[in-house]
Amino acid sequence: MIMRIDIITIFPDYFEPLRVSLIGKAAERGDIRVIVHDLRDWSHDVHRTVDDTPYGGGPGMVMLPGPFGEALDAVAPPGQAPAPRLIVPTPSGTLFNQRTAARYADEPHLVFACGRYEGIDARVIDEARSRMPVDEVSIGDYVLAGGEAAVLVIVEATCRLLPGVVGNAASVADDSFGGSGGSFGVPGVSVGVPGGQSSAASSATAGMSGLLEGPVYTKPRVWRGRDVPPVLVSGNHAAIARWRRDAALRRTASMRPELVRGLDPAALDDRDREVLSGAGFTVDAADMTH
Ligand code: 6GU
Repeated sequence: MIMRIDIITIFPDYFEPLRVSLIGKAAERGDIRVIVHDLRDWSHDVHRTVDDTPYGGGPGMVMLPGPFGEALDAVAPPGQAPAPRLIVPTPSGTLFNQRTAARYADEPHLVFACGRYEGIDARVIDEARSRMPVDEVSIGDYVLAGGEAAVLVIVEATCRLLPGVVGNAASVADDSFGGSGGSFGVPGVSVGVPGGQSSAASSATAGMSGLLEGPVYTKPRVWRGRDVPPVLVSGNHAAIARWRRDAALRRTASMRPELVRGLDPAALDDRDREVLSGAGFTVDAADMTH
């Protein structure tokens, strides 16, 4: 399946990076089709105006509904099925995460509407909701000058999940947050080790759902007096998988303790508990406290 992505923006040049690296190659192969539209093409005056002052007063400028409405009509003609999903980047949206990326990777057509200034006239989103699914999405708790950088983030996180975009499917499965069925630290959601296995080797090889990735090493074996951990050159695959899981548990406990609290206790084996307790967590079957 080829994914189509339309991006409506007043800064088309901002999306030049999509021509390079993995996403650029996928576009060259024809796996993804990215079309960037200049919002000003739908402005109505010689100055190519796309914004005006806010009703009710206040600072900044609000993007006019007219140009956005017409741009959306052009990329998603009313009545034409299937309607694409409209994604509106905004710091007041729901948080984008790996699960959102996985959902977007299953869609055939995404449309991004980038706002600058104080945002887009709310009627644009209201009206769009009457004829297509609309997500207002934030990439984190900070404020950007506009949605463009957020769209680059969302497109990259989404497109690298498409079949064939990342050379090695296992590298996606083993990502931090990326393991199959990952919980991403959502309380009460299963860690989702396939088959319900929880032995060290099976959970490690099944992808480390809900955990951050630990350290990685390559040649040379000794660099500036620092040795690669010997287990990684032992050839003992079960021991390597266990060592990696230990490292992932320790890193998650240290960097993102709230993710440890979101793990399903039933998916942890005795060694997992030992490692977590060494990192200051008390783990029992019912709860995890720090
Ligand atoms: Cl999606 N847009 C803007 N303007 N700022 C943000 C954001 C999005 N996500 C976090 N901050």
